[in-house]
Amino acid sequence: MHNILVTGGTGYIGSHTAVELIEEGFNVLIADNLSNSDITVLDGIEEITGVRPLFEKTDLCDRSSLKEYFNRNPGIDAVIHFAAAKAVGESVENPLMYYRNNLVSLINLLEEMELRSSGSLVFSSSCTVYGQPGKLPVTEEAPVKKAESPYGNTKKISEDIIADTVKAAGHLRAISLRYFNPIGAHHTALIGELPRGVPDNLVPFITQTAIGIRDELKVFGDDYNTPDGSCIRDYLHVTDLARAHVTAIKRLLHDKNSKDYEVFNLGTGTGVSVLEMIRTFEKVASMKLRYRVTDRRPGDIEQVWADTTLANSELGWKAGHSLEDALASAWKWEKNYRQLKKNK
Ligand code: WQD
Repeated sequence: MHNILVTGGTGYIGSHTAVELIEEGFNVLIADNLSNSDITVLDGIEEITGVRPLFEKTDLCDRSSLKEYFNRNPGIDAVIHFAAAKAVGESVENPLMYYRNNLVSLINLLEEMELRSSGSLVFSSSCTVYGQPGKLPVTEEAPVKKAESPYGNTKKISEDIIADTVKAAGHLRAISLRYFNPIGAHHTALIGELPRGVPDNLVPFITQTAIGIRDELKVFGDDYNTPDGSCIRDYLHVTDLARAHVTAIKRLLHDKNSKDYEVFNLGTGTGVSVLEMIRTFEKVASMKLRYRVTDRRPGDIEQVWADTTLANSELGWKAGHSLEDALASAWKWEKNYRQLKKNK
């Protein structure tokens, strides 16, 4: 049984990936500093899979404690690195925290991996590296543009750090997965996207508006050059995204990678506008959603969706859930989470 270290594994995508890894027969270890997640996520993972991953609260930015972590946990075969700060707006206000947290943690991790046999890395990257692509759908060959935010820049720089380190080290190999917009929750609604304050992202804001926590959804602009004027994104079910990480890890562990460093877009290949998201949610939840069109949000790009050819043909992964499935799972999670909170 291979041992997989999942950094940031109590987070939204990390926890869903831990579930899929366990169900695929991997032994999962989670290192997380719990700065943006809750240890109760381990209960959800255990309830779903029957397995409680080995968890240690760990600050990946602390070089000596990370070395001790690896000394205590020998035999890590591969690492999936999720741990990072990821709020676009916060990164604009506090760039140094983002550069330190996201880059130092990665550098420390790579230094440890270089010293040991855990030579396979899957990295959580983002379509944000493309900025506003000139051509859509966007392929992995598209130019990586000036990031719209320090958060996006840390993803760009991280990819370069990984590519250069893999090239120099010789025994490391890595895959960067460029996520489009992950949404939804595990079908059991036992894990999902934990809300922290006012949501930045569209879907948690929709479900919190629908359940009555928010008065109304603000649609950030309907004067874009798109069919209905609102921004277009490629929204994919978080479980499909999690399964892509299992596929990527197996690719590296079974030496199926064609290069030591590979990049794949993870999206559905379909663009959906904000107003279409609202309509689809209203259909799925059989309710009207209160919303108002307001000004554009600074930093938003107009439209992006993935060319998924490489992920489908080379990686052997394809998103399987429909948008309706994803929104229904988000709504089920919101209702379940609020019920849990009420019962506490
Ligand atoms: C989607 C669309 C908004 C909220 C960001 C990061 C990306 C990744 C996912 C971390 C946009 C509109 C949103 C609202 C709205 N983050 N919107 N009202 O900005 O595409 O991507 O989150 O990995 O890296 O860049 O996602 O969900 O914030 O916005 O109208 O209250 O919904 O304008 O068009 P985004 P989002």
